[in-house]
Amino acid sequence: MMLDELNLYEKSEAREFLAQLRAELDGFLEGMKSAEAISLKPHRNITSIVFLGVGGSGIVGDLLSDITAKRRDLPIICHKDYSLPPYLTKDVLAVAVSYSGNTAETLSAIVEAYDAGLPMFGITSGGLMEKICKKMGIPIVKVRDGLLPRMAVPHMLGAAVSVLTNAGLIKMSADELRNAVENARRAQESVEVHVGLESNIAKQVANQIYNKVTFIYSHGLLSSVGYRLKCQLNENAKMLAVNQCLPEILHNDIEGWSPALANCLAVVVLRHKDEPLAVKEALDRMEVFLGEQLGISVSRIVGDGNDDATKILSSMVICDYVSFYTAMMRGVNPIRVDRIKSMREGIISNSRLLEQVAKRFEVKP
Ligand code: PA5
Repeated sequence: MMLDELNLYEKSEAREFLAQLRAELDGFLEGMKSAEAISLKPHRNITSIVFLGVGGSGIVGDLLSDITAKRRDLPIICHKDYSLPPYLTKDVLAVAVSYSGNTAETLSAIVEAYDAGLPMFGITSGGLMEKICKKMGIPIVKVRDGLLPRMAVPHMLGAAVSVLTNAGLIKMSADELRNAVENARRAQESVEVHVGLESNIAKQVANQIYNKVTFIYSHGLLSSVGYRLKCQLNENAKMLAVNQCLPEILHNDIEGWSPALANCLAVVVLRHKDEPLAVKEALDRMEVFLGEQLGISVSRIVGDGNDDATKILSSMVICDYVSFYTAMMRGVNPIRVDRIKSMREGIISNSRLLEQVAKRFEVKP
């Protein structure tokens, strides 16, 4: 089987990508450590948190929101646009995340948040964001540079969880998070390249989906991992994918499926052992209907662990390996994202926006 041939992983892009993949869980711990020195002292009571950021960096807020869903009293809004949502009040904490620090949408939202007087902190590896945050006096966590933005997600997530925990906005201990990382290492080991297809769920899923548009179905806790898998398939494997969640799927999507789609579409379902009974029944029934009655390829990825953080981190690691193996099956380079680069650079308004921001805060672009 192709994915069991270890020389496949000797190509330079595969080696480089694998190195970043293997470092993800350590990256989470490293991110937590880089944030230790940041202590937020907002002048007013925080009643909600808004994450500002797009693409790989934008996923940080989604994952954090799911990991901490039962560990906070505040709502989290993940906003992926140039402007802030109009309904924000001054007691909202803005968390700006941009790995490169040069993303026009995020910088524009940061300036709006600054002008609106929102308490804020940023997470970046540098760029214009580091410079303007320093000028504005906005605390930043600086994470290691030189990574692909999407592979720095665990670093940035670790940093975000750590700052919010230290500020008392999330009720989680550093030990719990470290435990979750240690438990997720088992999931990672089970999908490594030396583990053969027969017992490697990530290789099996890649083998099912590599030549099909893939629908990722999940519920609640794992919905951000579903979105992460969609984006990783887009960027690493250069393929289209769709992310949808239960219960909505059973109120709309389900009507669209037919046996004729088996040649071009596949389904990946994200599951865990503590699903509420109604969700478990719904997902089981949906899997049987799509797989057995319609003949669609349905693969299941189960997030291990007893706590939410472990389930999320272990499913995310497996999904990231799925995207890597899928890229290998498709013979594409998982590192390069030429179209994203060309879109970013080709939008003249974005370049102007970055120049204006640099000018306003008197920093070099
Ligand atoms: O993974 C990627 O390369 C992209 O999705 C980027 O994250 C996205 O373009 C936003 O850039 P940044 O994360 O640097 O703000």
